[in-house]
Amino acid sequence: MIQIRDKKFVPFISADEIKSEVSSLAATINEAYADKDVVFIAILNGSFMFASDLFKEISLPSEISFIKVSSYAGMNSTGRVDEIIGLTTDIKDKHVVILEDIVDTGITIEKVKKLMWSEKPASIETCTLLFKPDAFREKEIPKFIGFSIPNRFVVGYGLDYDELGRNLGEIYQLKEEVSSMKSMLNLVLFGPPGAGKGTQSERLIEKYGLSHLSTGDIFRFNISNKTELGELAKSYMDKGQLVPDEVTIKMLRAEVEKNTAAKGFIFDGFPRTNPQAKALDELLSELGTNISAMLSLEVEEEELKNRLKKRAETSGRPDDADPAIIQNRINVYRAETEPVKAFYQDQNKLIAVDGVGSIDSVTNLLFKAIDSL
Ligand code: IMP
Ligand code: MG
Repeated sequence: MIQIRDKKFVPFISADEIKSEVSSLAATINEAYADKDVVFIAILNGSFMFASDLFKEISLPSEISFIKVSSYAGMNSTGRVDEIIGLTTDIKDKHVVILEDIVDTGITIEKVKKLMWSEKPASIETCTLLFKPDAFREKEIPKFIGFSIPNRFVVGYGLDYDELGRNLGEIYQLKEEVSSMKSMLNLVLFGPPGAGKGTQSERLIEKYGLSHLSTGDIFRFNISNKTELGELAKSYMDKGQLVPDEVTIKMLRAEVEKNTAAKGFIFDGFPRTNPQAKALDELLSELGTNISAMLSLEVEEEELKNRLKKRAETSGRPDDADPAIIQNRINVYRAETEPVKAFYQDQNKLIAVDGVGSIDSVTNLLFKAIDSL
């Protein structure tokens, strides 16, 4: 957490995430304007850092110019654009890409575009690092968007609070606006392979409006987007090693921070070990929230074996139906993952639910358990 003047801010988008998003925006623009005469116009002050990092990755022979619009002071967009200074570049017949740090109401961009059209450019598009869809009041959504974010005040990476905070390498959000996180419903859905976590988590997400955090999905996302953490994780996986907890936690942190507007989270496939459970507690408490409960689906071993066998056959992976493989998965679960239950039991947060019966009856047991929290 950081303090700027009278306000506290909490981490929101990491330097790593910004870096990888800027690269992918640059790649998109390089491709979209491959044979075109493009000129970049960045709106000062906020966009200087974004414009600089993006422009380094632009491979087109293009000019960049900076204009200034003064429309904004303090915490709320006034929706007023007073003046536009510095449009000296000739943009006639050129393809203009406006660079913005953030598009909020969209009023600034709209006025800038209007002014520019009188100079007869071939086209005008906007590229913004941040976009607040809930605050946007204009018709034309920016063509190139880095992150769509909740309607909350942010600072860092060029953006200021009362002119401070522009030097920060990552983006923070106003803590008081995140404090709604206190009332979040955060669930750990737990159980051995074959217990029905996937099916039941879908139903919980739908009923309680939760954001689904599956470490498997988060890994795949970071690896396919080649984020720094993704590359790091891959380097372990390529060697057949387990990804260290701190790497997993960092990825998870980034996902949690992106979704602070959610009603809560459901953690699926995580935490798998006691150190991970501890790290998750620390992460959530930094953000002013905590785990509400661990819901543990209890299914006895014979039933699990039958379910896994059936699932392997119908999913077209008959190898998984091998009893030795199934037994091994269950053994690993018992030895390494099951102890996490004790961690939550010690905090009085463990709720065991009978996972045998129809899917609907198990769902109802889970709903009851959650509603009684
Ligand atoms: P507009 O509402 O889209 O016209 O945005 C105008 C300007 O408001 C942006 O260029 C920023 O300078 C500023 N702004 C909007 N939201 C934020 C924020 O969350 N933090 C800091 N500045 C902001
Ligand atoms: Mg700005």
